[in-house]
Amino acid sequence: MKNAIETFNLTKVYNNNFTAVNSLNLEIPDKTIFGMLGPNGAGKTTTIKMLTCLIQPTSGKATVGGYDVQKNPDEVRNLLGMVPQQVSLYKDLTIMENSQMCADYYGVPKDERDSRIEDLMELVDIKYARDKRVGQLSGGQKQKASLVASLVHRPEILFLDEPTIGLDPTTKRTLWDLIRELNDDGHTIILCSHDMHEVDMLCDNVGIINTGNLVAYDTPQGLKDSLLEDNKKELKEALSQVHEESEVSSSKIENLEKLSLRKMSFLLQNQDEQIISSIQENYYYQIIRT
Ligand SMILES: Nc1ncnc2c1ncn2[C@@H]1O[C@H](COP(=O)(O)OP(=O)(O)OP(=O)(O)O)[C@@H](O)[C@H]1O
Ligand SMILES: [Mg+2]
Repeated sequence: MKNAIETFNLTKVYNNNFTAVNSLNLEIPDKTIFGMLGPNGAGKTTTIKMLTCLIQPTSGKATVGGYDVQKNPDEVRNLLGMVPQQVSLYKDLTIMENSQMCADYYGVPKDERDSRIEDLMELVDIKYARDKRVGQLSGGQKQKASLVASLVHRPEILFLDEPTIGLDPTTKRTLWDLIRELNDDGHTIILCSHDMHEVDMLCDNVGIINTGNLVAYDTPQGLKDSLLEDNKKELKEALSQVHEESEVSSSKIENLEKLSLRKMSFLLQNQDEQIISSIQENYYYQIIRT
């Protein structure tokens, strides 16, 4: 399978001499969903900005769809769509006007343009605000507007930098469905997120970045398995109890407490989806701590 994205020692040193991304080597296979995890300040957004030609790498190389981000930025831009962490639409224009501008920039046929925008607005439930200026929208509404504008040209490679932050649960699920549908249609998706459940459910592969370095790369299941294999046999048992039993035994919780895993033992006493995702979160971040 060819790669949608490849980086070779990709590095960004900001002007203040701070190395935000440090010799990153990454391969993202074509038509897959890649999840990028890592704590605040890890270098995720900086990586995405280099891959989407918003900032120049200091050294190293990256290709997107086979094109070099430094030598062929126009070709790269034509392939990609981007939902940035900070919404970057024009505040004085409406959602419709912003989306039309994006569509025109990417050469979306005029006779398809408005109906595509309307369909997307309907999908993320923002049609009711179609003629409001973006500057007057709420945080979640802005996020929805940003999604519409970035999807209107049906980009081959879509970058989503924490796209579900601030979205209500229903819209979040609609977006997850949309991401899956786009992927089924052959689009490659790069998703930055702090939501472990989201990454676990959606992604084919996950990369964990910490202080500008790639510290893990695997399938979500592979990551969890390797952590469990290493030293947390007890946790595996406890987690399976969460799925299989109505109650986790108190002796199990005591065992976990002995392992200094107080937070997890507490979490295991409460059993719902959110809690399980918190446990997954702990698994992932053990990679960073160890
Ligand atoms: N323009 C800049 N100039 C100097 N340093 C910067 C600049 N932009 C980002 N940084 C620094 O680079 C590091 C990585 O930032 P980045 O935005 O890539 O992190 P992130 O992984 O996306 O974090 P978050 O999860 O909080 O979004 C941070 O320490 C940040 O302070
Ligand atoms: Mg970021």
